[in-house]
Amino acid sequence: MKIAIAGTGYVGLVTGVVLAHLGHNVTCVDVDEKKVETMRQGISPIYEPGLEELMAANMERLTFTTDYASAYRDAEVIYIGVGTPEKRDGSANLSYVNQVIDQIAATLERDCIVVVKSTVPIGTNDKLEQRLREKLAHPVAVELASNPEFLSQGTAVKDTLHAARIVLGVESQHAEEVMRAVYAGLDQPMVVTNRRSAEMIKYASNDFLALKISYINEIANLCELLGADIQDVARGMGLDPRIGNKFLNAGIGYGGSCFPKDTKALHWVSNYYDRELKTIKAAIEVNDQQKLVLVKKARSYYDSLEGKKVAVLGLTFKPETDDLREAPSLVNIPILLDDGAEISAWDPVGVNNYKRFYPDEITYCDTIEEALRDADLCLIFTEWADVKALEPETFRSLMKNPIVLDGRNCFPVSKFAGSGVVYDSIGRAKVE
Ligand code: UDX
Repeated sequence: MKIAIAGTGYVGLVTGVVLAHLGHNVTCVDVDEKKVETMRQGISPIYEPGLEELMAANMERLTFTTDYASAYRDAEVIYIGVGTPEKRDGSANLSYVNQVIDQIAATLERDCIVVVKSTVPIGTNDKLEQRLREKLAHPVAVELASNPEFLSQGTAVKDTLHAARIVLGVESQHAEEVMRAVYAGLDQPMVVTNRRSAEMIKYASNDFLALKISYINEIANLCELLGADIQDVARGMGLDPRIGNKFLNAGIGYGGSCFPKDTKALHWVSNYYDRELKTIKAAIEVNDQQKLVLVKKARSYYDSLEGKKVAVLGLTFKPETDDLREAPSLVNIPILLDDGAEISAWDPVGVNNYKRFYPDEITYCDTIEEALRDADLCLIFTEWADVKALEPETFRSLMKNPIVLDGRNCFPVSKFAGSGVVYDSIGRAKVE
């Protein structure tokens, strides 16, 4: 099939490459000429394991362009994968989606299904369809379908090729048939429902996972006070299939492009309809507090952090991505800097992005050892494999004062017993 994709961020580019892999002819549209040129050379503008390889294998069916008119004109299916960033009041900003709808309306010359992958408030597909039909420059039949994405950064390709489910929100048999044909090459359970339910599945799923994380984080904080171990507690809970063992890792809170935004957006909608989702509100509040746990711990080790050298391991919101959106490091580091700490940071892929926020205030290190040398404290914000592979002896021998505050429970507590390192993690006994 001839498919166009609007937007080449995580969602758009991964979707485009996977659809090309399924045998479709895909044109990816982006406004950024430089980015388009990079992709034409087979280079992915985002760090995503496996993406470049899949791109290279399917280049003959992939076109990258800024010329949206040529891409949309005769496409059988057009995917919208542009961002819906959070507005100041927490609601979703739909201006990029609306802009794409207007461009499609102005250029489309054949019947087409327009698929919304971007996360949009419930009811948006209906409004977008109306907008599109009203503005059509040519007499063609168009219909909107909702097909939310559930890909996680770092495993986006795998998540798309082997998704737990494909959710399709359609309002006609025809739209369902077209969408089934698009995904014919994938053997995944399909939930076919109406558009509003599909839109809600996306928010309800992400917000439930965020809630699960905030819940386990609150339990972890209590475990610390009561002498229980959160990892044993989570294992004991997770073996119950009604609870499940996923997303029960306690830590310094969730970040990223989805959970923070989608919790706030659904909370905003619920308030708008005077039906506040109190559970989601609690998940947001708990997460905001949880992000500060390490800096609070850090302050408890010294009367003042003025002039103290603080090694920071990991800047991104999770491993295997260079994305910093809502990363706990972005909340903690400014506070540490205000406290007068000297930061030496290491991250395998996030440094260039971090430099945009802090070009000079931080010393960026190429190796973990360099960051740890002579440090008075070490804060772990991201569970990169290189961090998890460290031995207590590395901290002990390099740091001036070996105090490790682990926001991601990277090591078994027992590993630090008798090591000469103070090891303080989340929801577990402290090793002194
Ligand atoms: C998420 C959803 O998983 C995905 O389905 C959705 O469509 C987009 O949002 P992503 O943001 O890429 O994906 O990452 P994810 O792996 O879900 O992690 C989000 C945040 O939660 C990270 O900061 C991670 O560290 C944190 N997290 C995750 C925990 O703190 N504990 C856990 O047990 C799991």
